[in-house]
Amino acid sequence: MLMAQSSFADKLDSPSFIREIDSQNMLSALEGFPEQCREAVEIARKAAIPAGFARGVSNLFVAGMGGSGIGGDLFRVVIEDEVALPLQVVKGYRLPGYVGPDSLLIAVSYSGNTEETLNCFREALSRQAKIICLTSGGKLAAEGERNNLPVVKIPGGLQPRAALGYLFLPLLVILSRLGLASFDDRQLAEAVALLNQAKARFSQRSSFPENQAKQIAARLYGKAPVIYGSEGLAGVAALRWKCQFNENSKIPAFCHSFPELNHNELVGWEKLANLTKSFSLILLRDKDESARMRTRIEVTKELIKGAFDEAVEVWAEGRSPLAKTLSLIYLGDYISFYLAILNGVDPSPVEKIAFLKEKLAGVEGD
Ligand code: PA5
Repeated sequence: MLMAQSSFADKLDSPSFIREIDSQNMLSALEGFPEQCREAVEIARKAAIPAGFARGVSNLFVAGMGGSGIGGDLFRVVIEDEVALPLQVVKGYRLPGYVGPDSLLIAVSYSGNTEETLNCFREALSRQAKIICLTSGGKLAAEGERNNLPVVKIPGGLQPRAALGYLFLPLLVILSRLGLASFDDRQLAEAVALLNQAKARFSQRSSFPENQAKQIAARLYGKAPVIYGSEGLAGVAALRWKCQFNENSKIPAFCHSFPELNHNELVGWEKLANLTKSFSLILLRDKDESARMRTRIEVTKELIKGAFDEAVEVWAEGRSPLAKTLSLIYLGDYISFYLAILNGVDPSPVEKIAFLKEKLAGVEGD
């Protein structure tokens, strides 16, 4: 797994080398992310959602899997201090028993054909919950329209994980349009400005010596990342980083969050030194983390960093929870992309996921 630093730079600074591996142009989706966020907000602002649609609602659910489900997680951490109602993200086939006519479910599936999400949608329908669909099409759009439900249609043609702006920001706009939370232009403007600055620094055109995303990808090469963040936004960003390493870079990756990891995983790095040296540690930090959280993270770092071959620390940028979360996510997305290139794998296809979905489609019954 040895590769010289100059070789990393040569590969990541070469547009033609990247083009040869990135056959479906994941790079252009990455570079378009700030614009996608802006467009996603516009789409949700214009979507047909009747005024008063959420009247009488007393609990909120977002159902979605994988690249669509993470939009729900982000939504929860960004909005949870503002929203007065209980909000739960469902990643699976079943809704909790208390979902009923006073519930609002937002069913999120990029393809519109994910069976777990469709099952939640149908269950919510049968329990007379209020439902809004967020999708590019598929069965979710068709069944939503057939039942005269609001369907927020987003552009198709991307990998779901490359459509995060479309799958996440409309949730904020929808809740604000329904009067259940507030989301204003200033938050969007700060986040998009920050993403545009980050894009200039991390983009393929920014060369290796100036590019933090390329440099971190090189440091992580050949190792399995373990990503830790504090509960809330950094913890959810850690999950996104893990999933992006899995799906884009095609490597094992693991995540956990503080403080829970201090009660178990902290001890798990004591033995098996031959194995743990194959892992890299990534700490996602938030400058607004509490003093107690800061102490936890600093002490944990000192206790475990010797077990790893590499330790990287990254701080969220920006002021609002939205900007901070997106800043961490965008850096992780770029790193996972560059790591895919160093690994010589096409970041877009996820053949095993497609294969599994195909197998399940041929199986009858629950
Ligand atoms: O990244 C992926 O391709 C997956 O995680 C999908 O998002 C997941 O399988 C769900 O599919 P969809 O987003 O179309 O509902």
